[in-house]
Amino acid sequence: MQTFEDYQARYSAYEQIRFRREPGGLILFDLTTPTLCASFSLQGGQLLAFQHQGQVPLLWLSERAAMAPGKAIRGGIPLCWPWFGPAPDGAAKPAHGFARNLPWRLTSVLAEDNGWVVRFQLSDSADTRALWPHSFEASLTYQLGRAVRVDFCVVNLDPVPFSMSYAFHSYFPTADINGVEVLGLNGCDYYDQLQGMRLLHQEGGIRFAGECDRIYVDAGGEYLIRDAVAASELLIQTENCRSAVVWNPWQEKSSRLSDMADSAFQNMLCVECGNLGENSIVVPAGGAHASAMQLRYR
Ligand code: BG6
Repeated sequence: MQTFEDYQARYSAYEQIRFRREPGGLILFDLTTPTLCASFSLQGGQLLAFQHQGQVPLLWLSERAAMAPGKAIRGGIPLCWPWFGPAPDGAAKPAHGFARNLPWRLTSVLAEDNGWVVRFQLSDSADTRALWPHSFEASLTYQLGRAVRVDFCVVNLDPVPFSMSYAFHSYFPTADINGVEVLGLNGCDYYDQLQGMRLLHQEGGIRFAGECDRIYVDAGGEYLIRDAVAASELLIQTENCRSAVVWNPWQEKSSRLSDMADSAFQNMLCVECGNLGENSIVVPAGGAHASAMQLRYR
């Protein structure tokens, strides 16, 4: 595994990239250019923060996020994989899979025509096989420009098919959750996780007046977060993602979460995109699955 010093040495020629080590040992890096700034964590291959010049931040990061190895970081875009929610075999394994809790390899940071491109990889190891007995190569590629695009690809290196579910668990900032509406899910069915997975039907936009935890299936893949107080519209466009999850913990659950301030629920919202539940994916032996999400302010 590459160390902090290895990464520092490898990118020492780039004045735009600065590596940081958190007190608990997590390795982060900031990418700062005249037009954008972004922060990543090697754990999870996770984008933690992004801001394009002249725009407000695109992502929300909890001021109380646990920055400790093996603990999910609450904010940015954690990737939930290879399962979403509790482990499918019912065992006591990490919620939302292990991808967000393990260090990924930073394979390249490049300035390209359309902006900066940051690539991470994760391969199976003794740790992953203890939780999920499969051989794989997973990659996350971020393209950072006026928009943020994330490409996720999983290659099945096993001689047998495997099934998986996942989500880009994006955390977005809100000026006031009471003035937010999520559009793009009208007419979809959803499972309400707060009502024992009751199947319901969405009519119109989604507004927030309490805890919300819904899994939308067979969704269209394009959503808009309209924030009346911020006077902003954040567009989420996906490729090959049939599920969406809309989550806000509201007051009581926020105060139970040690990595969130009690009132933080007012200023964040998760609209997560991926393939889960009945949209879970089977990857054939030697095959691959790829999907993408793009985020930008309109
Ligand atoms: C959402 C789930 O995706 O993630 C919620 O639908 C869950 O049920 C939330 O509470 C946060 O999960 P975690 O594991 O990051 O605390």
